[in-house]
Amino acid sequence: MAAAGDRLVKGVVLAGGRGTRLRPITFAMAKQLVPIANRPIIAYGIEDLVTAGIGDLAVVVSPETGPDVRRVLGTGSGFGARITYVEQEAPLGLAHALSVALPIVGDDDVLMYLGDNLLKGGVTDVVADFETHRPDAQILLQKVADPSAFGVAELDASGRVVKLEEKPARPASDLVLVGVYLFSAGIEDALDELEPSARGEYEITDAIQWLIDHGRSVRSTKVSGWWKDTGTKEDLLHANELVLSDLVPTIGSELHGCAVSGPVAIGRRCTVVDSELVGPLVVGDDTTIVGSTLRAGTAVGDRCRVESASIERSILMDGSAVSGWSLRDSIVGVDAFVVGPAPDEPISLSLGERSEIGRR
Ligand code: G1P
Repeated sequence: MAAAGDRLVKGVVLAGGRGTRLRPITFAMAKQLVPIANRPIIAYGIEDLVTAGIGDLAVVVSPETGPDVRRVLGTGSGFGARITYVEQEAPLGLAHALSVALPIVGDDDVLMYLGDNLLKGGVTDVVADFETHRPDAQILLQKVADPSAFGVAELDASGRVVKLEEKPARPASDLVLVGVYLFSAGIEDALDELEPSARGEYEITDAIQWLIDHGRSVRSTKVSGWWKDTGTKEDLLHANELVLSDLVPTIGSELHGCAVSGPVAIGRRCTVVDSELVGPLVVGDDTTIVGSTLRAGTAVGDRCRVESASIERSILMDGSAVSGWSLRDSIVGVDAFVVGPAPDEPISLSLGERSEIGRR
């Protein structure tokens, strides 16, 4: 039941998939839980939904990472949402994920949000637009430099969507599908008819193409502000940088002998000594930074230790440690450490959970 003030749109947030392009990070972690500015990516999407008045959410998880996603998001009450979890047994595509969630959605309209997408402007405007025009499907589009990595939309002269193609070798346009889709109940007809694509997945782009081919209304709008699909390491680092560019500075611990410039957020119970902090950057709780330089675009999690090190545009997850090394454009997984003899030049690395470079 929708609570007073809620819209009759339900949210379906996808948190399954294997995240193969983000290995080794995703060997031990759901890609939607990778921290961006010290919060799991998926938290931003859930917040967008709640802000748009969509509090009833189905979160679709995989058997492998579902328990972690549940542990992090819980009942959703921390976000002002009510979450029901649905398991997708195998990664058979976005349309398949939607179809496993549909029994929860019932006849209500649905907003499907890919849990690894970040949208600066949120979804409030697109939900309002959908409610005004009541199409069968509404998609969000954005121009990108490399459309072949995404679902690509072809529009006619009047701006109507005529064709959608998933990751085409020769894209018909530079407009790609953002991971936010709105559907009315008619989507079920398309899902019922869907056949797997050449890569063996039930594609949401094919389901929307079915709607177009059957004379249903498919509306598109362009994204305002930035959008990021965090499919690769570089995407994650860029997303981290983008979110940090809006950082509200807060210093929750005492700093000793430090030079601070730019927006910096430091959590509670940290020890920060003889270091240079060049924001925008964020440091979590219970972290120690000694004799180090942290540069812009860096997020250091909780319970980390950074000693005689230099870190630039990097993500250090909870419990990780770096000593003596210069890292840039790097991701260091939960409880991983980089210590011991360091190369002369700053290096870029990606280290999975509990991995080790050097000896402690
Ligand atoms: C999926 C969709 C694609 C869309 C993209 C947006 O691709 O299949 O159409 O453009 O999300 O993030 P994936 O990133 O899962 O490969």
